[in-house]
Amino acid sequence: MSQEPSKRLESIKSVRESKQSHTTARMEDYLEVILELVEFKGYATTLDISRYMNVSAPSATSMMQKLDDNGFLRYEKYRGIDLTKKGHETAKTIRQKHGTLLEFFEMLGIDHDTANIDAEGVEHHLNPRTSDQLRKFVTYLRSNPSLLDTFKRS
Ligand code: CO
Repeated sequence: MSQEPSKRLESIKSVRESKQSHTTARMEDYLEVILELVEFKGYATTLDISRYMNVSAPSATSMMQKLDDNGFLRYEKYRGIDLTKKGHETAKTIRQKHGTLLEFFEMLGIDHDTANIDAEGVEHHLNPRTSDQLRKFVTYLRSNPSLLDTFKRS
């Protein structure tokens, strides 16, 4: 499984070229929070969003503009925030990845808080095929608890 240094360098380079930007990850985290707020309260305000994203209200507002420009939601000052179909689907995908990763890390014996923090970062960097397979694997492990017990005792 180990690679020569030159191959490792090449693979780092090709990953950097295809990697999702920091901005994309940021937008996905906002969408996740907006979806939770909409489901919980029926609507999301920039004030609530700024609170849960731990940012200032002006930065939440400028992100709303960016998410609007990218077709994830419709934002009108004083009128509110509406997730578009694209925004809704993106948020749901991220939430599902988050849930799978959280469960997987907890299966590894990682405590809930650490698993949650790690899932929050990794969720943006999984190919759909990887996350589908991971979800199947987690389901498999869940239905075969003896495997997990063997692992935890190892
Ligand atoms: Co995240």
